[in-house]
Amino acid sequence: MTDPALDESSIDAETLRERALTTLTTARDRTTLLTSCVEEPDLTAQHSPLMSPLVWDLAHIGNQEELWLLRAVAGREAMRPEIDGLYDAFEHPRSERPSLPLLPPAEARTYAAEVRGRVMDLLESADFHGTRLTEAGFAFGMIAQHEQQHDETMLITHQLRKGPQALTAPDPEPVPLFTGPAEVLVPGGPFTMGTSSEPWSLDNERPAHRREVAPYYIDTTPVTNAAYQAFIDDGGYDNERWWTAAGWAHIREHSLHAPLFWRRDGKQWLRRRFGVTEVVPPDEPVLHVCWYEADAYARWAGRRLPTEAEWEKAARHDPASGRSTRYPWGDADPAPEHANLGQRHLRPAPAGSYPAGESPLGVRQLIGDVWEWTSSDLAPYPGFEAFPYKEYSEVFFGPEYKVLRGGSFAVDPVACRGTFRNWDYPIRRQIFSGFRTARSVGGV
Ligand code: AVJ
Ligand code: FE
Repeated sequence: MTDPALDESSIDAETLRERALTTLTTARDRTTLLTSCVEEPDLTAQHSPLMSPLVWDLAHIGNQEELWLLRAVAGREAMRPEIDGLYDAFEHPRSERPSLPLLPPAEARTYAAEVRGRVMDLLESADFHGTRLTEAGFAFGMIAQHEQQHDETMLITHQLRKGPQALTAPDPEPVPLFTGPAEVLVPGGPFTMGTSSEPWSLDNERPAHRREVAPYYIDTTPVTNAAYQAFIDDGGYDNERWWTAAGWAHIREHSLHAPLFWRRDGKQWLRRRFGVTEVVPPDEPVLHVCWYEADAYARWAGRRLPTEAEWEKAARHDPASGRSTRYPWGDADPAPEHANLGQRHLRPAPAGSYPAGESPLGVRQLIGDVWEWTSSDLAPYPGFEAFPYKEYSEVFFGPEYKVLRGGSFAVDPVACRGTFRNWDYPIRRQIFSGFRTARSVGGV
């Protein structure tokens, strides 16, 4: 089964070279900003036990690029074999990383820059054929995505960091309050989930396969802060009936009463966002909720979280053609009018933004703004094959992880598409996570 949106064999080498160069350069510009807007102590400090020091991410980005592009693709010798272990995410959990003999900031920068210089030379003569790793420039795309994923991770570290503001960005355009229909009916029937043709898709997005989905309603926009506050005001965090047993135990043990970074101030809620305290904006998608909170809200609202297949069908199924598109708006690469991506803004845009990015059925903001929790565990698609390494996806398959879809304001377009799958533990909420709800036709 193929989705005919793309034919990778038809992309010529110059186009691939240009695409690899642009995406790698965009990623490095962002990495540089995130690691130069604070002083050295903030690069080597651990701002949360959940996160690495920023200087670990920086050298890990360089090390992965060396491993895959210089060693695996180009067959070069290791530049600094003694550091590989330090930057192997599986050898050392994040909480241990500050006590490792990490490269200091200046050395980490030099190392990453040296790797990049050699990659630029390699790119000039790359022919993008012969092996699965180089076909359609996959390894370059994988590494650009990897760096951008860590740029999102580093932005999370910035959000967790105490202290004054270090990053700024313009706010999204204000939009009139969204007054369209609250939910959209997605007709039942099969659709194509996943992809076999998107050249830079990662192993867990493959292969394309047909999925039968019963008809359902899905929220037109992500759940807003105002809607979530109604759940809080209704005593949602004090009423066991809305929570799963594990969720209830978790919020009791950790005394959770509101999304992460929220604080009550008399009658209103305040939140801290990148070093600034502000009133929680009512029309913005709710951010920094864990899966248990999203699930409980949905039950309180008489609804449920969408399954991963329901999310993807809402995002990709075009009822007119019967085909699955790359994005809700069609097959075109994301442009600023489609979605809030790439850390252009340091917050989600108000619910109902980006009409140009809506799906054929009128569902908005599926891509960008907030990662959306789904009800699904991370599982392989039928026919899954680990590529190029088991530690990207395969070792995470199973019931411990819930799938998030659609990408946040913090993720670059290169690492976000209609088929892209993210995952995390159901207790995590330092990530840029929100959700939308669904219901089956004739029931919850
Ligand atoms: C897919 C976002 C869960 O950050 O742990 C980065 C991406 N994999 N380096 C993560 C990743 C290896 C991964 N997520
Ligand atoms: Fe990584």
